[in-house]
Amino acid sequence: MGRCVLVVGGGGREHALCLALSESPSIREIHTTPGNAGTEHFGSNHDIPASDISGLLELSQRLKVDFVVVGPEAPLCDGLADRLINIGIPCFGPQRLHAELEGSKLFAKQAMEAAGVPTAEYDLLDASSDINTYLDARSHEPWVIKRDVLAGGKGVVVTSDRKEAIEFIQQSVQSDGHVLLERFLPGEEASMLVVMDKSGFVCLPPSQDHKRAYDGDEGPNTGGMGAYCPAPVVTDAIHEKVLERIVGPMFTYLSSMEIPYRGVLYVGLMIDQYGDPYVVEFNVRFGDPECQVTLPLIDTDVGELLFASSTDALSKTDVVFKRAHALTIVLASEGYPKTAIKGRPIVGLDRSLDSATTWVSHAGTSRNETGDFISSGGRVLSVTSVADSLQKARDSSYQRLAQIILDGSHHRSDIGHRAL
Ligand code: AMP
Ligand code: GLY
Repeated sequence: MGRCVLVVGGGGREHALCLALSESPSIREIHTTPGNAGTEHFGSNHDIPASDISGLLELSQRLKVDFVVVGPEAPLCDGLADRLINIGIPCFGPQRLHAELEGSKLFAKQAMEAAGVPTAEYDLLDASSDINTYLDARSHEPWVIKRDVLAGGKGVVVTSDRKEAIEFIQQSVQSDGHVLLERFLPGEEASMLVVMDKSGFVCLPPSQDHKRAYDGDEGPNTGGMGAYCPAPVVTDAIHEKVLERIVGPMFTYLSSMEIPYRGVLYVGLMIDQYGDPYVVEFNVRFGDPECQVTLPLIDTDVGELLFASSTDALSKTDVVFKRAHALTIVLASEGYPKTAIKGRPIVGLDRSLDSATTWVSHAGTSRNETGDFISSGGRVLSVTSVADSLQKARDSSYQRLAQIILDGSHHRSDIGHRAL
């Protein structure tokens, strides 16, 4: 029989979700909205944007889907999961209450305090605060300033430039009423994706993103320019600490509430020189591009896993991982992350060039009037490989990327450098 699923979103993450669902024996039919030129291969794309909550409800009912998988955070913060559950449709992605873990940095800090989870100390500044006094108190390290709203990756500034710090604080207080000034945590970052429901949780293998635009971790912050999984920075001993100090306490805290957390909790980690993990951020969805390298390492039926998490059946679900390495490289449009130039032809996307171990995940792609692929976003696509070593996965991804032509595009040539 198999289930019918609707995937909400249209980036590389959603392409990766569709691919994994298409390989799941438990899934019969895949719909995506709005999708991209890659997701249409797995089923039907629809034209309801992820921001149209009523439209998404209507579409889910019309398609008679068995469950909905939500890619991005915004519809979750807008209460999509609550509304789906109200009409009896299970949702992979938490309800509004828990989506605030990503929607509000202050809410996340308060949750971590309540759960006893290690994270950076912070001050809350508002219009009455003397900014310089606060900056002086933390002047021996870069200042970390965080807006308390969903800001699409533009809500955090890490700077040693006092003028920039003051300006960002002032602007944030003016638009949001307050802002967080956080202790700088030195160390190496990693991402831990934890699938959760009322009954239990499953930690997926840890991964590492590359957030800066250029090689050597230089240049502006982006949504992520490439990732690999597993990330060896998370050793067995650190993994144990993450479970004991962070994931376990968060699960206990979240599952004590009337509304359980159903979906994936993205734990952004900073691991210090002593191997102690701290939470830098929570997201309430899969990371992009972490999703592209994490899902291929799940040996279990991913459709079953996501459905189980939507219906509090995780504790009855056995999840097995592959002993393999995955690496993905993002190809971005000229001008990204500032102002991406879109609408250019992309050559080299023929699926016959892909294989079972190396493939392209579409993100900002669409088709023109004649059916040819064109770029339609900042991050255009990513090339993922799975192999028995990270080096092999890296080589295969770069080889496949070399076959793709997009005028003016850029990518990093050092994905995986910390582990290789
Ligand atoms: P966030 O949106 O909270 O993940 O912050 C974006 C990026 O800023 C993170 O991925 C880190 O690279 C950096 N960052 C955030 N908070 C801290 C911190 N307390 N110490 C050092 N770096 C941070
Ligand atoms: N790759 C970082 C994120 O998805 O937030």
